[in-house]
Amino acid sequence: MNKQIILLPGDGIGKEIIESAKLVLNSVASEYGHRFTFHQHAIGGDAIDQYGTPLPEDTIKACQNADAILLGAVGGKKWDSLPGYMRPEKGLLGIRKTLGLFANLRPVKGFSSLLHASPLKEDVIKGSDILIIRELTGGLYFGQPSERRENGNAVVDTLYYHRSEMERIIDKAFQSARLRNKRLTSVDKANVLESSRMWREIVEEKSKDYPDVAVEHLLVDAAAMKLITQPNHFDVIVTENLFGDILSDEASVLTGSLGMLPSASIRSDGVGLYEPVHGSAPDIAGKGIANPLGMILSAALMLRHSFQMEEEAAEIEEAVNETLEQGYYTADLHIKGGKQIGTKEMTEMVLENLTTK
Ligand code: NAI
Ligand code: MG
Repeated sequence: MNKQIILLPGDGIGKEIIESAKLVLNSVASEYGHRFTFHQHAIGGDAIDQYGTPLPEDTIKACQNADAILLGAVGGKKWDSLPGYMRPEKGLLGIRKTLGLFANLRPVKGFSSLLHASPLKEDVIKGSDILIIRELTGGLYFGQPSERRENGNAVVDTLYYHRSEMERIIDKAFQSARLRNKRLTSVDKANVLESSRMWREIVEEKSKDYPDVAVEHLLVDAAAMKLITQPNHFDVIVTENLFGDILSDEASVLTGSLGMLPSASIRSDGVGLYEPVHGSAPDIAGKGIANPLGMILSAALMLRHSFQMEEEAAEIEEAVNETLEQGYYTADLHIKGGKQIGTKEMTEMVLENLTTK
């Protein structure tokens, strides 16, 4: 298969880890006879420095014509004092919104060699395998107005959702649950928020179309607690934008490091943007020690969700698993009796495990 892939390295460690994903994809392409063509474009702080905007037109156009997009991360101290609309993060929110990438899929699955790397008890997290589905283009992140009032002494953020925005993400969640263990947890705050009451009604309506999927409703505060005390309770979790952001960072604790988690942001036709869940990690940028595995696993998600290359995706995931089993880890992790290595070496070990079968 021929595919056009846009690379958006962004800032900080984003620039260091995107190369790892490209190398892994090229290796898979040559094994399976695919041709992946890569084009690199600017986003975030990098784009502000080069073009004076976090999301240049040229980047939008390239992404609109691509089969899929890989993104590193955006942000950093250098741009922190800029006004809100000029911040690197606006580039990321902008591209998600412009492309209509409403469904954010965040699989959280612990690798067995990393069980002890989590601060949680091994017997609590053992076997946990959760798919968090977060609504990505609505809610508090995009509602207008969002502004200071009364001479800066008051503030308003708007939580707006149209029924259709809730229906499409809830549908996606039921479909995903069907492909997994057929259990869906819908997370809301229906005891307080009107938006959550509408969300809950729609989940109930949709559940009639998916009688084979068992549905439960959890309030977000209870869900936050259960996620780290009983992670095995969950199969698929679906929730709105802000709740999903918070719960998915919390869930990363199950895997030992934020650097391990991949994500997919997709729309109905399969076009998607794939990125690790973490940010640009300015504290370790430029040191060559960033964990590239969240980025590499994001490339695997791209193969699975945008290109229907399940076998190729599973092969990357297995190569990552083998590398960890061999005891290799980066500075954000620790494996007893193993060996700490840098970004480049970690990528090389994954490549070696991909080719030696
Ligand atoms: P962060 O995710 O960049 O870092 C949090 C901590 O995790 C740091 O100690 C970092 O060193 C570590 N870490 C993260 N990824 C790692 C990896 N791959 N390997 C090893 N260690 C890793 O979050 P933080 O520090 O709150 O934000 C830094 C910048 O990133 C900010 O400008 C923020 O706005 C931005 N950000 C961007 C995101 C994106 O592009 N999707 C998401 C989250 C934050
Ligand atoms: Mg977040």
